[in-house]
Amino acid sequence: MDKLRIEGGHRLSGNLRVAGAKNAALPIMAAALLTSEELRLDNVARLADTATMGRLLAGLGVAVERDGQSYALRAARLGSVEAPYDLVKTMRAAILVLGPLLAREGSARVSLPGGCAIGARPVDQHLKGLQALGAELTIEQGYIVARRSGAGRLRGARIVTDMVTVTGTENLMMAATLADGETIIENAAREPEVADLAACLNAMGARVRGAGTDRIVIEGVERLHGATHRIMPDRIETATFLVAAAAAGGDITLEGTAPDTLDAVLDKLREAGARIETAADTIRLRMDQRPRAVSLRTEPYPAFPTDAQAQFLALNCIADGVARITENIFENRFMHVLELQRLGASIDIDGHTAIVRGIDHLSGATVMATDLRASASLVIAGLVARGQTTVERTYHLDRGYEEMERRLASLGARIERVR
Ligand code: EPZ
Repeated sequence: MDKLRIEGGHRLSGNLRVAGAKNAALPIMAAALLTSEELRLDNVARLADTATMGRLLAGLGVAVERDGQSYALRAARLGSVEAPYDLVKTMRAAILVLGPLLAREGSARVSLPGGCAIGARPVDQHLKGLQALGAELTIEQGYIVARRSGAGRLRGARIVTDMVTVTGTENLMMAATLADGETIIENAAREPEVADLAACLNAMGARVRGAGTDRIVIEGVERLHGATHRIMPDRIETATFLVAAAAAGGDITLEGTAPDTLDAVLDKLREAGARIETAADTIRLRMDQRPRAVSLRTEPYPAFPTDAQAQFLALNCIADGVARITENIFENRFMHVLELQRLGASIDIDGHTAIVRGIDHLSGATVMATDLRASASLVIAGLVARGQTTVERTYHLDRGYEEMERRLASLGARIERVR
């Protein structure tokens, strides 16, 4: 297994291009199932997760061609409607083929994702919503077996999800595009990735209104056609590099990003003492002082994103002051704390809140990544720790970041991958 070896204490400076959003690419790739024509996607980041989604679609009979960061997907006719356990267990987002398969083929057999490091992450809201659209669902040998009731199409319905769910909203929105009649999703997720998916669906001939708000209205249509769509920039990757520069100090400019999709993160970085300038698709961050401790609570968009919590917690480890970080979305998303403590961090956990007392410096050690954003947190800690830090199990990092070490090294970090 690969490891990352980092020598701490080097400031970051220079320009970096942000990749396409993982959490927009995954549902949008699944949307290819909704038409027999070709869906062309640009700005798809080369990640383990997008590769996994490509393999999953190919297993269903979709013609998948990748050229760099462009994909051509064509679900002319599907050979299977099954998302197998050995793929789903490596990527929960595989659940996103359930809605499209039901809408397109009238049946689906998708492995239940099972638990994950950061929490139970059930999919009950996905199933409740699909049942409201007329699907019959049973659980058989760990698989969700779904079929449209009778021979007809799914039927539009009004759905109110119990809590805000990003992929739940996306699954239901995709299923509703080919249903008879109108579907209303109340309490919908407002994440920008949901709006990006809706933009792609509408380019394919769907009629989706209100994406990006908590009320989405979908007018079912007879069929969807091919389209070309450019994936939005990755706001979490943007946040990760900005927090890294705020922690290590320096002056970086991120290009090809979308400043208006991460206001809550930029506010917290300014509160920590960073100087930030934004333009249409660039963000410049300068930090030439010790960060100030910044407290935060994770909440659904547009509030502070849970996917940037671990990164900010690492920043607070060396900040001036005491910070309280409350994780309100997942029940077990503090695994990075145990590893940061190995680097000398002073953190206490009280239920869903981590109290972080900033110390003068962390000390390098070997640490182990446990999930995608925890691994980013450990890399940031390694950038600022004295001496050498080795981060193990970097396959977690590779799920959501394209060549993280090469891109950080291009900003002046001393970081290398050890095979
Ligand atoms: C999406 O996961 C993202 N993944 C996650 O990013 C992100 O952390 C999360 O949204 C929250 O923003 C993708 O978009 C592929 P949820 P998702 O459904 O959709 C509970 C990353 O690092 N819930 O919004 O799975 C759930 O347990 C990943 O890129 C139910 O109880 O998250 C959680 O507590 C990690 N029942 C909360 O809702 C359901 O049916 C929010 O989950 C669905 C969700």
